[in-house]
Amino acid sequence: MAETMRDDILRVLLDEQQIRAKVEELGARISEDYRGKKPFFLGVLKGCFVFMADLMRNVTVPCMMDFMAVSSYGSGTSTTGAVRITKDLSRNIEGLDLIIVEDILDSGLTLSYLTKYLSSRSPASIRIATLLDKPERRRADIHPDYFCFTVPDEFVVGYGLDFAEKYRNLPYIGILKPEVYQ
Ligand code: IMP
Ligand code: MG
Repeated sequence: MAETMRDDILRVLLDEQQIRAKVEELGARISEDYRGKKPFFLGVLKGCFVFMADLMRNVTVPCMMDFMAVSSYGSGTSTTGAVRITKDLSRNIEGLDLIIVEDILDSGLTLSYLTKYLSSRSPASIRIATLLDKPERRRADIHPDYFCFTVPDEFVVGYGLDFAEKYRNLPYIGILKPEVYQ
């Protein structure tokens, strides 16, 4: 077992400064777009937690928040396609302006399922904010309304993203050494 998490990282893809700058920029943009509204941030656990905490602190309009949890991955590195809700909303979202917050949009299967599910509960609007977009792997017709970075088709960890529940606490985004998951 590696002594520090850094030993398992092939290369730092996005450092703390780069992430902070983009998250601030996105917070300002959302504040502008939702002027006079009260967005409801809906985080998809667990990967969203670091990004959502930073993003919301850069939003200047009043807002609300909640979390949902879905499971699709197990401990592998690619989706099984099956999505299961393991923690549902804790309130009625009718008439609310939802912003779904994700760590990464990969195949898109999770968000495609989730947006359909949420639409059926009559929110006023739904937008998607994701920290990372990995468009090469898309299998569902879904696009983020807001994203901070496009990433190549490599398995990344840190800033909330995990591999087998590890590395979420890295303050940067790194590419995991393939030997760690092979
Ligand atoms: P999708 O349904 O394939 O879009 O899956 C999205 C979810 O898969 C994300 O919320 C992540 O939890 C996970 N995921 C996809 N790619 C990566 C990655 O490179 N690193 C860590 N988690 C990932
Ligand atoms: Mg996730």
